[in-house]
Amino acid sequence: MPALVLLGAQWGDEGKGKATDLLGGSVDYVVRYQGGNNAGHTVVVGDQKYALHLLPSGILSPSCIPVIGNGVVVDPSVLLSELSGLNERGVDTSKLLISGNAHIITPYNVTVDKVTERFLGKRKIGTTGRGIGPTYADKINRVGIRVQDLYDESILTQKVEAALDVKNQMLTKLYNRRAIAVDQVVAELLEYADKLRPYVADTVLVLNQALEEDKVVLFEGGQGTLLDIDHGTYPFVTSSNPTAGGACTGAGVGPTKISRVIGILKAYTTRVGAGPFPTELFDADGDALRRIGGERGVTTGRDRRCGWFDAVIARYATRVNGLTDFFLTKLDVLTGWEEIPVCVAYEIDGRRVEELPYSQSDFHHAKPIYETLPGWSEDITKAKSFSDLPKNAQDYVKALEEMSGAPISAIGVGPGRDETIEINSFL
Ligand code: IMP
Repeated sequence: MPALVLLGAQWGDEGKGKATDLLGGSVDYVVRYQGGNNAGHTVVVGDQKYALHLLPSGILSPSCIPVIGNGVVVDPSVLLSELSGLNERGVDTSKLLISGNAHIITPYNVTVDKVTERFLGKRKIGTTGRGIGPTYADKINRVGIRVQDLYDESILTQKVEAALDVKNQMLTKLYNRRAIAVDQVVAELLEYADKLRPYVADTVLVLNQALEEDKVVLFEGGQGTLLDIDHGTYPFVTSSNPTAGGACTGAGVGPTKISRVIGILKAYTTRVGAGPFPTELFDADGDALRRIGGERGVTTGRDRRCGWFDAVIARYATRVNGLTDFFLTKLDVLTGWEEIPVCVAYEIDGRRVEELPYSQSDFHHAKPIYETLPGWSEDITKAKSFSDLPKNAQDYVKALEEMSGAPISAIGVGPGRDETIEINSFL
């Protein structure tokens, strides 16, 4: 019953797509359990580069069944265009399974996301504007639309009416926007129904049966630990649970079934959107990390904020996710620095703090305390084993491992599928 969770240990964009895809060939199912098309995975296969937003990265492995679990929010228009884009490039997408319980991102959820952000002004979250938060809000408020609702027009109409009741008051009276017509939304959603039908399944049953049959199931987190609605830097977070527990609720699999939880950890730190980020750099080093690391959002095209590695965050990720291993990515980006600072603790109001403070106000005041490690200048992209790395790169990895509280089982040394050093097998 090998069930692995693979998730971001920082603020997302750690290079999860590469890690998931690396395992793809030996994995039977790749499951997304939360988030929606706010995610962005870049997967490089041979000379082909694929940018995926909603689909699990397992879609690129012919032997793998990709699954969109109940915890995901699905924008049907995005899903269908992502599928047809892949089909045009010769990728077979027919095995995809979508939970009938997954919630639909409706056009009005996208509108609400955009207008509320605009209304928040300088207090905005910096969302991706894809309707993620408002769709999860509807789910929690019990006025959401689920994939299965597309197959009962009368129920769908009643639900859209209920959802728009308050929203139209808000849009017209508060935000000075036009009301959204129920009929128009229902007609648009019904257009997707037939196209999605072949994929809709009881994914909870499928996945639990697969685990009974000893199939390898990989749960792929979107975003990252610090963007988790419960454990992240609230309110500057996404509206779902990328942390390991989210895999259980978002796919309908019990915690006793999970055998391994792998945290993807970038060799430095990035974040997009607003919110605290203690090691953020505003100087030439930050610009260099952004340029060399190609730190631009796959989904939004926004420049990512960049900073040095933060071991406090990595330790926190180990704890809240029960991480068994790390996959360290983008080590090659650090090649060329004479010295590399690593944040080992924070200074908060004159005190040294070793662990992530639970108080938001404290975290906003946290100043990084750095230890400086010697850098390396040799090209490491061809390294196949740990011993191929220059000594200073080896020491950097070992130091990160010691500070972060879980073994580093793989290291990314370049964007390609084969530019990875495997230390311990994940399977
Ligand atoms: P939302 O998920 O669109 O609601 O955005 C909430 C916050 O999460 C914003 O700061 C986004 O920039 C951030 N976010 C959402 N998805 C990702 C991702 O895949 N990578 C990094 N940040 C993300």
